[in-house]
Amino acid sequence: MRPILLAFALSLSALVSAQAPLVPWPRNVEWQEGDFALKQVGVIEGEGAQGWGAQLRKELSSLGATSIAADEILRSVQLIRDSTQGEEGYTIAMEKDVVRIAAGSRIGALHATRTLEQLAAPDSIGNWHWPRVRIQDAPAFAWRGTMLDVSRHFYSVAFIKQYLDELAALKMNVFHWHLTDDQGWRVEVKKFPKLTEVGAWRTEADGARYGGFYTQEEVKDVVRYAEQRGITVVPEIEFPGHCSAALAAYPQLGCRKDTIAVPTTWGVFHDVYCVGQEETWSFFQSVLDELLPLFPAPWFHIGGDEVPKDRWQHCAVCQARMKNEGLKDEHALQAWAVKRLQAYLTGKGKRLIGWDEVLEGGLGSTAVVEVWRGDEQARKARANGNAIIRTLYFDASPASLTLDKVKAFDPLVDGDAHGILGAECPLWSETADERSVGYRIFPRLHVFAERMWSGEVRGDIMERTAPHVARLEQEGWVTATTDKDLFRSAAVFDPQKRDWLITAERGRPDMDVAWSSEHGSGTFTDSLRVVAPGTVKLTPRWREKPLTDATSIRIAPHLALGARQVASPPPARQYGRDPDHGMTDGLMGTTTYHDGLWQGWWGVDPTITIDLDSARIINEVRVRCLQQVGVWIVLPRTVEFFISDDGVKWQAFSTATHTIPVEGAGPLVHDFTTHPQTAVRARYVRAVLRNSGKLTAWHLGAGGDSWVFADEVIVR
Ligand code: ACM
Ligand code: ZN
Repeated sequence: MRPILLAFALSLSALVSAQAPLVPWPRNVEWQEGDFALKQVGVIEGEGAQGWGAQLRKELSSLGATSIAADEILRSVQLIRDSTQGEEGYTIAMEKDVVRIAAGSRIGALHATRTLEQLAAPDSIGNWHWPRVRIQDAPAFAWRGTMLDVSRHFYSVAFIKQYLDELAALKMNVFHWHLTDDQGWRVEVKKFPKLTEVGAWRTEADGARYGGFYTQEEVKDVVRYAEQRGITVVPEIEFPGHCSAALAAYPQLGCRKDTIAVPTTWGVFHDVYCVGQEETWSFFQSVLDELLPLFPAPWFHIGGDEVPKDRWQHCAVCQARMKNEGLKDEHALQAWAVKRLQAYLTGKGKRLIGWDEVLEGGLGSTAVVEVWRGDEQARKARANGNAIIRTLYFDASPASLTLDKVKAFDPLVDGDAHGILGAECPLWSETADERSVGYRIFPRLHVFAERMWSGEVRGDIMERTAPHVARLEQEGWVTATTDKDLFRSAAVFDPQKRDWLITAERGRPDMDVAWSSEHGSGTFTDSLRVVAPGTVKLTPRWREKPLTDATSIRIAPHLALGARQVASPPPARQYGRDPDHGMTDGLMGTTTYHDGLWQGWWGVDPTITIDLDSARIINEVRVRCLQQVGVWIVLPRTVEFFISDDGVKWQAFSTATHTIPVEGAGPLVHDFTTHPQTAVRARYVRAVLRNSGKLTAWHLGAGGDSWVFADEVIVR
């Protein structure tokens, strides 16, 4: 019998090793016969390893594997300090009744514990064991980080702790906390209470207040929590740009000193700190004096990205500063500001980290450069002697940053690791909050963590990740195992049936969509037929919980609904989905110019003719138009309306104009509306949209043609 039993045991252990859900995969793994039963296990901390076993004891206890009393210990795990393992390396060696973990530090012992957690498996009767194995492991990169933007959306302390748990499980070791930005200042500063009283809150377009911040006690709690898990918290306080929220709180810190609101839209804002005046410096240094002691990390991130220079160009104080310091332009002023900040941080024992813009105009070589704009910036940083952090932005939808692209991520520059500390997977949170952010993180994070720890991603990673994903979903994280957007919806009008079909593309088959309108409510998965005009609100859900706020599809009733339209010249093909009924389908274009509902014309005055099929009494005609100057879309100067009985002879009806400045960047929708003094009767209605002309001098496309975007000619 024995040989057969042995063969069976061997195949069992081969099975275990093939399926062991180790992520990241260790540097060296040797599978051995048999396993190590997790029953009455004692944890013994050797000399210099005091306290290293805390996490392991917790883990064993949760598996019911610890002994009640010392004399009941059957097996032991011994933790041994071994400086040859390096800061984060470890070995695990198993014998019959002893497991020896050798590590260079508490962090290495923690990593060994994570590995053992992933190895623990129950047998058929529920007894836990580790497969017998020998592992030698150490990370490929020292900086294995992520960044969370808590400004665009606020994330609670409870959420951040949950996130830290997942980072630690994957041996990630840096949590870069993006604490301030235009849309919210998120950390308490006692000397400047308005930073959070004013700067942490914004009033959304619908009037709702949105915001939040962390008290200094909460920050300390998070830092401690991370530290226990082997994670360093690196704070980022943006300077000298991305600071609208701070300027909303203290307008005197800007060049113009005018009162601004905390923004509710995304993008890059012109108002930045006035670096010419000393008041800004005493403010920012006081902020640092309060915040630096909360973060034991030797690094401090100052942002430094995307700083428009126009306020400085028009500020007498900044110009005087440039003259006094012999700075040739505003880029040199930015470099001067970064250097001054670097000197201050150095004096406090901190190393400055900045986004790669800090390279502009010269940077001290002791700074760390976080590269977000590609290889060219990385080469520049390397040539300048700076240590480098690479990035892979996780805010991208899985439809664009696919899992294959994450697998292919290469933190090296030109195949060379010289100067590369490691990488982060930053998550900018404009379109993600606690409800849906898991969809951007998992299982990408597993792939990223393996690339950074192991140096390569093994082909079977999705198999190994599957049990982790299942566990994450059980704990309430929504995950993305296919390369799809979380949710997309579209509506089309059926001119024959005169109804509308709403279709949904869901990122997961187990998602549904809750809908509600004036006419009712319910749920659907793929499509919903709508028979009456109204506003239909759609909320994608997972396990009956909303993943995002609702999106609205507005369907307006009017006389021209379904009427034939002729546009001359025809609209650009790439925007409007339906050139025959797009202007009369009842569907109102949203503030997204590429939603398929807007029709666009470039550099011309489109004429849109509507045939109502028979003469109708008309009290109102309106044309809705979009303005979003950043993408070249400007409201028409005027809209001229005409009517006709036969479509041949036209009678001028009225002209609608507007007073919205081109600086009103948008996206905004304006209705060009006209009412006749007395109702008129006509079969044909025509609108001529007068293009606003060439783009103004300050525009990126200055002197070029602008677009006219229109959706729906509404006749009542
Ligand atoms: C950045 O994405 N502005 C660093
Ligand atoms: Zn200034």
